[in-house]
Amino acid sequence: MKQIRALIEGETDKVAVMSTVASEIHNTMGFWWTGFYRVQKGQVHEYELVVGPFQGPTACLHIPYGRGVCGTAWERGETIVVPDVEEFPGHIACSSESRSEIVVPVYSNDTDRRVVAVLDIDSRQLATFDGIDRFYLERICEMI
Ligand code: SME
Repeated sequence: MKQIRALIEGETDKVAVMSTVASEIHNTMGFWWTGFYRVQKGQVHEYELVVGPFQGPTACLHIPYGRGVCGTAWERGETIVVPDVEEFPGHIACSSESRSEIVVPVYSNDTDRRVVAVLDIDSRQLATFDGIDRFYLERICEMI
């Protein structure tokens, strides 16, 4: 938290912030995939999630609203912790190595607090994420 705060404090460039946060979390914690999907205007749907800065293997580029763990976290506007991806209906397997996952929404600064992106983290072990991960990752997404 301290390291991330120090690195992004005062930074206004979104790509610089997302890249730095993804790199810090990924390389400090040794996860399988760490990155952002951003809410963007889509070609098929009005809005969709489009992959942003990430660390790890190549992943899905577009995710529709309400689909997969990411699209569901966007729809619900809340964090989703998935201890076993095989038990999450509609989970999108960008990598067959992924076993557990957490997705945390990032909200806009203004009063309507729209979801503008999600932070997605995948692990190769089952049940990697718990309430402590959720608590601190939500604080990091608030900082963003
Ligand atoms: N598993 C995610 C898709 C993104 S990748 O894990 C990087 C989902 O179900 O939304």
